[in-house]
Amino acid sequence: MPSACWAWPDPVDFSARHALVTGGSTGIGFATARVLALRGARVTIIARDPGRIEAARAAIAADGGTVCAQAADVADATAQDRAIDAAEAMFGPISLAFANAGTGGAFGPLTQVPDAVFETVLATNLTAVFRLLRRVLPGMIAARAGSIVVTGSLASVRGMPMNPAYVASKHGVMGLAMAAAAEAAPAGVRVNCVLPGFIDTPMLQQLGDDPDAVRSRLGALVPQGRVGTAHEAAELVAFLLSDAASHVTAQTIAVDGGILGTLMPK
Ligand SMILES: NC(=O)c1ccc[n+]([C@@H]2O[C@H](COP(=O)([O-])OP(=O)(O)OC[C@H]3O[C@@H](n4cnc5c(N)ncnc54)[C@H](OP(=O)(O)O)[C@@H]3O)[C@@H](O)[C@H]2O)c1
Repeated sequence: MPSACWAWPDPVDFSARHALVTGGSTGIGFATARVLALRGARVTIIARDPGRIEAARAAIAADGGTVCAQAADVADATAQDRAIDAAEAMFGPISLAFANAGTGGAFGPLTQVPDAVFETVLATNLTAVFRLLRRVLPGMIAARAGSIVVTGSLASVRGMPMNPAYVASKHGVMGLAMAAAAEAAPAGVRVNCVLPGFIDTPMLQQLGDDPDAVRSRLGALVPQGRVGTAHEAAELVAFLLSDAASHVTAQTIAVDGGILGTLMPK
């Protein structure tokens, strides 16, 4: 039972924890992996591109972090399982997981989305997260400790035109997190969902050719007047994964500079 005061041990010290971060080579996943590693976790990052994941691993290691990289496509069930098995062989049982790998999908009207596109987006953004939860939850429940965060989107709680597979996948992943949280809570295992708004990452930069123009166009839609940084999203994830959030589960929380929570008449 946690004490009333967390003065010691430091609740955001991740020493002796093994944290898994999918999509950990760039953007929000990389920033989170770095924060967790700098605060003491042994971190495994998973992503597909071997060059980018090795660069991420080297950058975190150069900062003094303990990190291993597993190149795998999370949409491939066997590859994701194999990567997790290898990670646990190296760093021990996973006690923290950030299911974050995602694809932005393909823009186009719902009536023209081919089955293959719809299924590919769901495979990465939803089915892979289901399989990850199914793989890591038993160990956490047996240990009666663990925390998981999944990455949703503002599209988890809003309709958005021209990308129905992404909207469906992000609604789904939020529901999956709530379902897992309900089953895991009696064992003291927590599951929460973060909703990034406009966060300045390679995925956001796919929305235009000029990075500054993308930042200013989308920043103008944010009550704070700017897009967020990957590090700002990472700090929310790290909080939810930490013991500082020991009574927080089955929650969905945005890191969006105020978009979802406000009405801003102009
Ligand atoms: N940036 C935003 O404004 C924003 C807003 C809402 C939600 N999100 C969500 O935030 C999450 C992270 O995105 P980000 O913005 O940080 O973008 P990002 O920088 O493009 O990161 C995506 C990460 O996921 C990996 N990835 C993609 N598909 C994968 C697959 N099939 N298997 C394994 N790894 C895969 C990528 O590496 P590889 O390509 O090498 O595999 C990369 O590490 C996503 O779930 C995204 O939907 C972002």
